[in-house]
Parts: sequence; C-alpha cells; structure tokens
Amino acid sequence: MTFIARTTDVEPGCALQVNLGGRPPVALVRLDDEFFVIDDTCTHGEASLSDGEIINGDIECPFHSGCFDIRTGAVTAFPCAKALTVYPVKVEDGQVFAALDAGSCADTPV
Ligand code: FES
Repeated sequence: MTFIARTTDVEPGCALQVNLGGRPPVALVRLDDEFFVIDDTCTHGEASLSDGEIINGDIECPFHSGCFDIRTGAVTAFPCAKALTVYPVKVEDGQVFAALDAGSCADTPV
C-alpha cells in the first residue's frame, strides 16, 4: 500500500490531487468520513478531476461536465465513455493508503 495523504488533508465533500511521481496523479476524495482514491485525470480529456465538483457521490469533470461514480469509477454522465480506475483504500492512524497496483474500474470484471 502506498501512502496517499493524511485524513485531515482533505475536507468532507472535497478532492485533493496527489502527485506520487512516476505515474499519473491520483485524487483522494472524501465523502463524509469515507475516503476514496481514484485516477485524477478524466478519461475523456486531460482535466484534473480534483478540480471538479462532488455531487451526490459522483465527481464532475471541470472541462465538459462528464461524471463518474466515486465508489466504482462508472460513468454516470456523458461525454465520458470510459470508466475511471478506483483503488482499494486503507485508513490507519489518520493516514490514507491505496493499493495502486490493484486498481479496477466498472469496465473491468473484478
Ligand atoms: Fe472530462 Fe471532457 S475532459 S468530460
């Protein structure tokens, strides 16, 4: 598991871009006291999803308003057509970790 950020680094209902080096950035998303790690780059273009809005469990891309389900990565609004990768998360001692080698998305059978 890879350290992503401290739980206090992101407010409820917000997303934080995390650059880990050597790979595209991820976004740490907080829904109340649940944490999710997803790819930060939209599958439709080069937008950073952490700059988008979080609406009812979805994250909305700031470029063309495509949406993804934060829990599954499934597309919930056009023009996005390809699901987003989501990563297994562990929260321990106020720190969020993610299994970046075990990402999955709604298009990929788990
Ligand atoms: Fe995200 Fe177009 S770049 S919806």
